[in-house]
Amino acid sequence: MCGIIGFTGGSPALPFVLSGLRRMEYRGYDSAGVALCGGSPAKIEIRRAVGNVSALEAEVAAAPTDPAATCGIGHTRWATHGAPSVKNAHPHLSPDGRIAIVHNGIIDNYAELRDRLAAQGHVFASETDSEVIAHLVAESEAPTLAERVMWALSFVRGTYGIAVVSADDPGMIVVARKGSPIAVGTGGGASMVASDPAALAGRAESVAYLDDGDVAVLTPGAFEVRSLANTPVSRPCSPLDIDPASVEKGGYEHFMLKEIFEQPEALRNCLRGRLLPDDGTAKLSGLRLGPRDIASLSNIVVTACGTSYYAGLHGVYAFEEFAGIPARIEQAAEFRYRNPIVTPDTALVSLSQSGETADTLAAVREAKRKGALVLSVCNAVGSTIAREAGRGVYLHAGPEIGVASTKAFVCQVAALSMMALLFGRTRRLSGTEGRAFVKALASAPDLVAAVLARNDEIARIAEKHAAVRDAFYIGRGYQHPAALEGALKLKEISYVHAEGYHAAELKHGPIALLDENVPVVALVPQGPDRDKMLGNVQECRARKAPVIAIATEGDADVRSFTEDVIEVPPCPDFVAAIPVVVAEQLFAYHVARLRGEPIDRPRNLAKSVTVE
Ligand code: M6R
Repeated sequence: MCGIIGFTGGSPALPFVLSGLRRMEYRGYDSAGVALCGGSPAKIEIRRAVGNVSALEAEVAAAPTDPAATCGIGHTRWATHGAPSVKNAHPHLSPDGRIAIVHNGIIDNYAELRDRLAAQGHVFASETDSEVIAHLVAESEAPTLAERVMWALSFVRGTYGIAVVSADDPGMIVVARKGSPIAVGTGGGASMVASDPAALAGRAESVAYLDDGDVAVLTPGAFEVRSLANTPVSRPCSPLDIDPASVEKGGYEHFMLKEIFEQPEALRNCLRGRLLPDDGTAKLSGLRLGPRDIASLSNIVVTACGTSYYAGLHGVYAFEEFAGIPARIEQAAEFRYRNPIVTPDTALVSLSQSGETADTLAAVREAKRKGALVLSVCNAVGSTIAREAGRGVYLHAGPEIGVASTKAFVCQVAALSMMALLFGRTRRLSGTEGRAFVKALASAPDLVAAVLARNDEIARIAEKHAAVRDAFYIGRGYQHPAALEGALKLKEISYVHAEGYHAAELKHGPIALLDENVPVVALVPQGPDRDKMLGNVQECRARKAPVIAIATEGDADVRSFTEDVIEVPPCPDFVAAIPVVVAEQLFAYHVARLRGEPIDRPRNLAKSVTVE
């Protein structure tokens, strides 16, 4: 949530900062701002605007900053404390205007700090928690900017990723991290910082990820990392392996559509080298688990939020079916408060596309505290959850920019399926069963490609239903998580009220809401649940609800009761959720497009939920 960017080098900072903000707009987009430090004598100029980065660009065009300033920081905001407004937009200034800060996270004790500073005569310009940091830094009498920042942070409780510039130290950016990601990099004689490394793609030659409690001092072309106690710290630098094209729209109208269409390739990258067709198993080196470790697992707890939670539910079904290991899912936000039972032979599987979701990270920490074996399934390489878990599986789906998660979901399902296969082959699956599993999972990219080929058909079906106010999604077995995910996709980007249910649950209450205006998206691919699903569909039809079916190609029974059928190729039910969800993504996308909604940046949402 919120994005931080910064640049110090031998060339103007503003173009870098603005383009970095554009790349991070998906992390928060209710206001944006920049602070440029330059001139002789050096001064700080800030520009801020409500709305997206284009509004900020217009503001900068109307009131240009010093074009020669070579040091700058920027921020794109997702409001927590204080409504979106110019005064609440970052950067925030110290009272004398010589220090500017941008902040991601939440300062828990800001009210107490603010009262104390106000009693000393400080006047605050915003309603934010963040502004106290600028005022605290200004209060310090320490000799260097880094030490002043360290001093200020010693009073702060909460989470932060911050970047600070001072007119008294032109060309320097001090950054710090506690609970909110910060990557620092160098390239072309410049140094740069971003809360999301994707913003540095094509610009930084190498990057380092700060750990909690780190403070880094950036000067042109170099940075050094220190602890909050001002002792040197070493953080490994690595090349930034993100293709700049992957963070551009590449001719698509929306990132979401681009990412939906990238799914065959994302799945290939996720599966590549990990499926062993001859042995009928999977190789997942990042788990660092030998057969005896796997054999000694007594249960699996999967934890995640949102779309990742639904992928996790799919994984729970697969762990039990194929590996025979008791598995359950825990909402990550509950995990540390509910005090769930975790033993040393529990594997906690944490799922997160971003690897930065605050509740999932807290669950990882709690599980580690309780001695569980913690495994992560993340997309963002080097993300906090991946690093803190220490073992896991990367999705290799490439950066996901659209707020609605798409390619991460299908790759999460693929990654969990591979884990279930590996665990299953170690414990109870035969070679023949394993080889059949590999064959089915390896077909996932082609299954998805077949659904994408039906994009126009799906758009036509969406057109018929684009004006709906409410919708239900129903499924059984592996299609139950798929139903939950389909409903989430529709509601988050089109603002249509949609509910996902296990098909059997409908008659325990929600069926009361069905009538001719409430369509039901029924997930009825072939498999053990198909016939029971058809019975549930008849119950909906009896209440006059229009039915949109996602069914196996050529299923004449389904065609006999609705013309709105999206076909997916035949495949085993545990794989079918992948093409089914892709059909749901396209349906949601077209409904939102036809309703004219801002698909990549739905209201109130941010890509990475780094606050509790
Ligand atoms: O980065 P994560 O996978 O941890 O994010 C979890 C949820 O915030 C995320 O899946 C959210 O529900 C998406 N907007 C859904 O499309």
